[in-house]
Amino acid sequence: MLILFFEAIVYRNCWARCFYFIFNCCYRATSRQLEDGYGDLPANSSDAEVKDDDVMAEEKRVAAAKPKEMPVRVNQLKKVFKTGLCKNLTAVNNVSFGLETGECFALLGVNGAGKTTVFKSLTNDTVPTGGRVSIGGWDVQRWFGFARKRIGYCPQHNTIFEQLSVIENLYLFARIKGVKWTVRKSLVNRTIEKMNLQDHKYKEAGTLSGGNKRKL
Ligand SMILES: Nc1ncnc2c1ncn2[C@@H]1O[C@H](COP(=O)(O)OP(=O)(O)OP(=O)(O)O)[C@@H](O)[C@H]1O
Ligand SMILES: [Mg+2]
Repeated sequence: MLILFFEAIVYRNCWARCFYFIFNCCYRATSRQLEDGYGDLPANSSDAEVKDDDVMAEEKRVAAAKPKEMPVRVNQLKKVFKTGLCKNLTAVNNVSFGLETGECFALLGVNGAGKTTVFKSLTNDTVPTGGRVSIGGWDVQRWFGFARKRIGYCPQHNTIFEQLSVIENLYLFARIKGVKWTVRKSLVNRTIEKMNLQDHKYKEAGTLSGGNKRKL
């Protein structure tokens, strides 16, 4: 960096470049933060947009609630990806929603609207650029270990191990999830019954029908 600095200012004798050099360094540092998702932008720093009344009402409701009062709380979530040297892409722009216990919630949007990015933020797969996400009162970015115990996640593509049997898959995921060995067996059996997979429990997961794979 020093070499670049001297090259710009001393060698070419151009003090105007000094300001440019400092500005350029700051800009690059900010871009890298955006790419990694660490730059905590203010919630509504972005372009003005027209929002529906119910969207604004939900924003207010979420902002007024404490994380502990809402089982799932997404407050002004923002995600900006760096897509080129000077290009950023806002994938999620200040989204807020709060889910209550027992509620069934669907996130709809056109392709590329940012749904998967929202779920990635909920599961700590990506770091938001702004806003806060909490599950069961635990901030996902700071206390993911605690938040993780309260969630199950079924992604768009099946994540089962096709060469393992149904029951082996369940034992494996129970262990990964940290289910105590004392309750593991009963939980696996109960899950098989609940999902109506009794006839398939010793079959290789890869041989199941599409629907049964999703259940698994
Ligand atoms: N890692 C990444 N780097 C750069 N851009 C990304 C990255 N991940 C997603 N995007 C962009 O962010 C936007 C939102 O993507 P996302 O996958 O969240 O959309 P989606 O609503 O899930 O779409 P679909 O309905 O097609 O699954 C898209 O424009 C996508 O190209
Ligand atoms: Mg998606």
